[in-house]
Amino acid sequence: MENGQSEQQYESVQSKKKKRKKKKKKKTGEECGRASGAGGDHGQPGPVGEPSAANSPEVLAMLEKLSRGRGTLSDRLNPTHPCFDAEIKAGWKKLPKKGRSAIVAADAARLQELAATVEHPFEADTADHCESPPEAYNDVVGMLDMLAAKLGKDRSSLAIYDPYYCAGAMKRHLASLGFANVYHKCEDFYRVLAEKRVPAHDVVVTNPPYSEDHFQRLLRFCHSNAKPYLLLLPNYVCGKDYYIPCVTGSSRKAAATPAPKRAEPQYLCPRKRYNYWTPKGLRDRNEMTNKHGHSSELGHRTSPFLSFWYIDLNPALSHSEVEVAWRQAAVVSGCTCTLYRSRSGLPSAIRPSGVLQD
Ligand SMILES: C[S@@+](CC[C@H](N)C(=O)[O-])C[C@H]1O[C@@H](n2cnc3c(N)ncnc32)[C@H](O)[C@@H]1O
Repeated sequence: MENGQSEQQYESVQSKKKKRKKKKKKKTGEECGRASGAGGDHGQPGPVGEPSAANSPEVLAMLEKLSRGRGTLSDRLNPTHPCFDAEIKAGWKKLPKKGRSAIVAADAARLQELAATVEHPFEADTADHCESPPEAYNDVVGMLDMLAAKLGKDRSSLAIYDPYYCAGAMKRHLASLGFANVYHKCEDFYRVLAEKRVPAHDVVVTNPPYSEDHFQRLLRFCHSNAKPYLLLLPNYVCGKDYYIPCVTGSSRKAAATPAPKRAEPQYLCPRKRYNYWTPKGLRDRNEMTNKHGHSSELGHRTSPFLSFWYIDLNPALSHSEVEVAWRQAAVVSGCTCTLYRSRSGLPSAIRPSGVLQD
């Protein structure tokens, strides 16, 4: 007995010591298991052939299913997301905790791989790196179809030009709608202009950088280009002093070009504000996740400004023909956007403050 303790006290102390020792041993054993990759709490599956919850057949089957469809794990588990997968959700609930951790880790690694590694051959403000959302293209399909028909073309042959390059997602979004003839390359648009290498095209469809004087440069190009255009721009652009002179060709600079005067474009406004996507790796990761929260296969979601389509399909389609295409799209494809004939007709919630109502 130590220090005059009773026999009972001595046994109780010894038993506690034993328990502590046992607990420590167990913990150390678990840590060794983790370090050797035996499927610890960090969720990595253990070595092939070694049975663990993290590389069980259920987990492997789930990983295989995830690799087949579109969307991240969180998209596939979210019933309100277009990529929701009820089968994956049902299977997910049945998996053990370690199995789920393994899948979360594998999904994060897959997203990391998708991270953009684009090298732009021009100086760009990193805040400009965001790509247009797929739903924005769905909203203008009816107009592109009517334009193609008017030019004796179809979705596969209509030549679309987007001169401003982020990571190339717009090409995929249009391809998924059947538009296969899209020129969208990682090149300096202004250099292309200066070297007179603008590719042959039927229509300009783009969303430009918001910084510096890119809006003016694009609007001037569209005027002198004298071709149909659909521009995805923030609402405030149509309230700027330079706007009407640039789009109509009434500025001194525009008047000096042979391009004919144009009317003000029409505006196609979505019912729900468009979100944009910054490809992973093109902007600071922490800044993006802290500020904007949601990320998916498309990148980090961002919606800094209200935006809508600025449309002028002249000389191929008049404003009234565009109106017909818009009415048809509401019936045929359920497009819920509203078309406005002038900026002064925009509802107050989206009309820039300096623009007076009709
Ligand atoms: C708002 S993003 C839109 C990208 C794409 N047009 C879309 O709709 O998804 C604008 C992009 O233009 C790119 N950009 C900036 N200067 C450019 C230039 N001189 N030539 C081509 N692209 C440029 C930037 O890298 C930026 O990512």
